[in-house]
Amino acid sequence: MLTLDYANCLADRVTPAHGLDPAALTGPLAERAEALTAALEKTRGTGWERWRLLADPEGTRNAHVEAVKAIAAKHADKDWENLVVLGIGGSALGNIALQSALNPPTHNLMTAGRKGPRLFVLDNVDPANFAAVMAECPPEKTLFNVVSKSGETAETAAQFMIIRDLLARAVGGSASDHIVAVTDSEKGTMRQICDAAGYDTLPVPDGVGGRFSVLSPVGLFSAAMNGIDIDALLDGAHEMETKCRNPELAKNPAAMLATILVELGKGRSKAGGPAKPMHVLMPYCNGLYLLADWFRQLWAESLGKRHAADGSEVFEGFTPIKALGATDQHSQVQLYREGPNDKVFGFLEVEHFGDPLGEQVTIPTGLGVDALAYLEGKKMGDLLNAEKRATEYALVESERPNFTIKFPSVNEHAVGEFVMLWQVATAYAGLMLGIDAYDQPAVETGKKATFGLMGRDGYAEWLDKVNGTLSETGHMID
Ligand code: PA5
Repeated sequence: MLTLDYANCLADRVTPAHGLDPAALTGPLAERAEALTAALEKTRGTGWERWRLLADPEGTRNAHVEAVKAIAAKHADKDWENLVVLGIGGSALGNIALQSALNPPTHNLMTAGRKGPRLFVLDNVDPANFAAVMAECPPEKTLFNVVSKSGETAETAAQFMIIRDLLARAVGGSASDHIVAVTDSEKGTMRQICDAAGYDTLPVPDGVGGRFSVLSPVGLFSAAMNGIDIDALLDGAHEMETKCRNPELAKNPAAMLATILVELGKGRSKAGGPAKPMHVLMPYCNGLYLLADWFRQLWAESLGKRHAADGSEVFEGFTPIKALGATDQHSQVQLYREGPNDKVFGFLEVEHFGDPLGEQVTIPTGLGVDALAYLEGKKMGDLLNAEKRATEYALVESERPNFTIKFPSVNEHAVGEFVMLWQVATAYAGLMLGIDAYDQPAVETGKKATFGLMGRDGYAEWLDKVNGTLSETGHMID
């Protein structure tokens, strides 16, 4: 079970200017959390909060798992060398995070014992990157998992059009055997393409936005194909979701995380010190580093809003930052301790790194150098956790609030808990800030401008707007 330790966010540890008043956490903030929990109970499983049912056996879970396993089983026999996921944003970051947390970093290099095909997630339209991956993945040996709710996302659509063409030339009439699409079950451009071509499809469920979709077939299919235990993942998520329905703030980790980050983010420490709108997530574990990328999208896109739900202009939001311990102690901690006190730090700590790869790595004895004798016979994991604790201490000494989410070990159950914890925390934070956590209106302008620049019918005015605004001036250095 994950634990959340927030003692270092309180005034007695990091001073009243930078920490929360513990009395507020049992008084007005606890009352607010109770009211918000009641509000979330009413919207749970409705509208854009249907993601809350993804791990619930009484919700949509069983139907999704059954469908995912059926298609994964069909492909298990085919001995694919590669699985290439095409998607972007919420249609890719969760897949990447699950794979990097739950399979070895050498997964694609393994010649024996690899659980599933090599996995590549193409979440950009960098042609050099795309070409390099495709050079390694001959279409005849590759299964393509295209993930797009709309089918109109330019990046994914472009990749998919190229892949279809490559497949048609390489395998002709059996191209559809190489494609599993995850898309809207009824409408949208991708749905039309799938219906016409007869691809196997899995649903992006209704009422589940991209950044809340990793526990749906969006994330589950590539995970299942690569040997990740999706039942355990969803068990962990369900357990956390249940815990996060508790109206008592002190027993509800999502409500507590949101309370800490929103209150400190808005400068409402005990003595009203500087606001801390920078939220750093710093795993002391390489495997969890890309979960921080998934978190960045969730926190940024959900909470960064110009308008409140009532239409007033508020410019809310916090800047999520990722860092890796201990690596970034040697590149960022100088700033974190002595730069502006405008950040809240979240450490991810792992108790057991797992046999046989993790637990056994021990530093040998016998070097005979006094300055390094303290390392002899110690486990590498103990060194990493000592560095985490040392950094935690150093931040407290500099009056920098920080919390720790501890993983007993990195497994499916714990990762499922982590994903659900942040999703529910985001729902609370949205209510606390008074914004809609489920839309992303600011993303549209860039999309429309791209359509204009790329000559899409009906978007010519955008081409004029872009070129008019960005016309050349003399303010340039050759
Ligand atoms: O979180 C989101 O809604 C976005 O990041 C989308 O997932 C992303 O834009 C991809 O959209 P689609 O699945 O329609 O291709």
